[in-house]
Amino acid sequence: MAIMIKTPQEIEKMRRSGHIVRQVLELVRSLVVPGATTMDLEVAAEKKIAELGAVSAFKGYHGYPCVLCTSVNHEVVHGIPSQKRVLREGDIVSVDCGVVLDGFYGDSAVTIPVGRNVPQEVQKLLDVTRGSLEQAIQEVKVGASLGDIGAAVQQHVEADGFSVVRDFVGHGIGAKMHEDPQIPNYGRRGQGVKLKAGMVLAIEPMVNAGSPEVKVLEDGWTAVTVDGSLSAHFEHTVAVTENGPVVLTL
Ligand code: MF3
Ligand code: CO
Repeated sequence: MAIMIKTPQEIEKMRRSGHIVRQVLELVRSLVVPGATTMDLEVAAEKKIAELGAVSAFKGYHGYPCVLCTSVNHEVVHGIPSQKRVLREGDIVSVDCGVVLDGFYGDSAVTIPVGRNVPQEVQKLLDVTRGSLEQAIQEVKVGASLGDIGAAVQQHVEADGFSVVRDFVGHGIGAKMHEDPQIPNYGRRGQGVKLKAGMVLAIEPMVNAGSPEVKVLEDGWTAVTVDGSLSAHFEHTVAVTENGPVVLTL
């Protein structure tokens, strides 16, 4: 399928959906405390999305039941909020949210430490994963290639001994949540699709502390690390413009 080029007006619409996603994630961050359940986060997020006049991109997507994905510790992505899942001091939780407003999507994720006593090694996993997304965003310019993005993530992650998940990738985004191209978090500089002004990319490194292998649980959604090691995930929706990257989920 062709890669859709967005007009500046469409990118402005995506900035509005992206801003709503950010507000939801900031609200959720304030609620991530020991003793909270992942369903508490879901309930607050669903209410906030409605208040802000948007519609969840996730709920109902291929039957997905919630507005958030909440992936705790060794869960990589697509964890389903549950009243039974109580967050404990020292856990980490990836919170992923997407909305659609006026026909255009925004998609972002953050991994949040629970409480103030997250071990240094765990904090490092979060810092390196966020850092790999920042490095990737710096590669987003007209004429760069998708391989530059993947290589930037991979280099940053592997330099610290962590591993990049390969079974899930980022994606183009616009009038649909998932558009072409796929955006792997590994690759080689100079390879793959060349970036053009008006492309919008959801870049989302998923990083494991141990081996890169993941599997999907019986619920058909929750992806976990095969070796049980911790996993982190950060995502931004980013427009390619003549003036470089514009992060729309701020
Ligand atoms: N942000 C994720 C993605 O880009 C999660 C979507 S999965 C869903 O693919 F089913 F919850 F929608
Ligand atoms: Co996404």
